[in-house]
Amino acid sequence: MRWIFVNASAVMCGPAEGGPVRHPTADHLGIRTGIGVGIESEKKGGPYTVAMLAPDYDLLDWLHHLFPQKADEFTIDCGGRLITPGLVDCHTHAVFGKPRLEDQARRARGEDYKAIAAAGGGILSSVADFRTRGEDELVALTRARLARLTSLGTTTVEVKSGYGLSAEAELKALRVIRRVAGELGITLVPTFLGAHEVPADFRSRRDAYVRLVIEEMLPAVAREKLARFCDVFCEPGVFALDETAAILSAASALGLKAKLHADELDPAGGAELAAKLGATSADHLGAVSARGVEALAGSSTVAVLLPGTLTFLGKSRQAPARALLEAGAIVALATDFNPGSSPTGNLPLILALAVSQGRMQPEEALIAATVNAAWAAGEDDDRGRLRVGGRADLVVWNCRDWRELSYWYGMPLAREVYAAGRPCLGPFAGISSADSGADELLSPRIF
Ligand code: NIG
Ligand code: FE
Repeated sequence: MRWIFVNASAVMCGPAEGGPVRHPTADHLGIRTGIGVGIESEKKGGPYTVAMLAPDYDLLDWLHHLFPQKADEFTIDCGGRLITPGLVDCHTHAVFGKPRLEDQARRARGEDYKAIAAAGGGILSSVADFRTRGEDELVALTRARLARLTSLGTTTVEVKSGYGLSAEAELKALRVIRRVAGELGITLVPTFLGAHEVPADFRSRRDAYVRLVIEEMLPAVAREKLARFCDVFCEPGVFALDETAAILSAASALGLKAKLHADELDPAGGAELAAKLGATSADHLGAVSARGVEALAGSSTVAVLLPGTLTFLGKSRQAPARALLEAGAIVALATDFNPGSSPTGNLPLILALAVSQGRMQPEEALIAATVNAAWAAGEDDDRGRLRVGGRADLVVWNCRDWRELSYWYGMPLAREVYAAGRPCLGPFAGISSADSGADELLSPRIF
């Protein structure tokens, strides 16, 4: 089977070489004009790969060769629009039950994180809710939410567990991710985040919880091959540096790579620990120290910035994106999609916030949500860039200039989205950008 995308304003191909980019410039975007994209699969319905990045007349020739009579049926006219690789969201907590509406109202009244948790909100309220919901309901909710996220232009998503906090409930979350990945056909990268918080029944014996994570949960996760990464919320008052190191070392011995929620609220050495452990990423970094910036710049640990989170929480500061970029760290961006601190799956919105709040340049933001995010998600070769022979994850945007992606903030910009050539949004998916069909499932019926 063959399809061609013609009449594009430009195609963003990404860097010529795979791997992460330090000091990104507009050249790394690989913007090419005067070409389109040809994709093919060996069998109908099979995964498509990019076969040609070439001028339209070459693509038309190639298609005519196979379908002399019906070439029109397999030609997508982009109408002068931009094509990019599917975006990569390398940090989400997309498996949860109800939204935390009361937390937001309390925050607006000036209550802080601790007061909200003490009043029955915070992560532990999501945990209590999550445990009551069955796997099938969570699959339906997660599928709908990820379908919406995909309709906004993202085709690869890292998804964490972390609202279960018991062996049974954490495994349930990871099984939900596995089932949804199979149903949606996009790439989901599962991460075990059993160390997201200490659950209520372990508050007076937190070491017993760390042991439970290490001795029971991690081996079960590894046995069922349910996760590729292990993450820890490393923050004073949540998990300390030594607890984080113990959990991530145990994970590494079982073949799971490390990620850290590091220095989100206080500079406690999380970034330095991530670099020392050779973690794949250190995420948040809202309060990272100068030493932490230096440690990340000298490592291959990706600094994953989440500007939507600090914005939604009403903070006036942001992670020091400029310092990280100028020091030469590998910088990625993600939504942090979760019910507490970032209820959005709109990655282009995050790009706009990175530019407006984090003072990143548009090209730095776009590299951060494509190849560098792919690196942070452990998908390093054909995600976040278009290369001949690579997976056909691509988006046709309702704009012409790549800088528009971080400009029209909050506007749904994707027009057609394809994951391995499979239509996820657009006329061939039967879903227009105005209606992804997911609305009624964004919130569960019973709160
Ligand atoms: O990444 N920092 C910890 N975890 C989430 C928040 C989760 C929640 O509040 O439910 C985060 O922001
Ligand atoms: Fe997070």
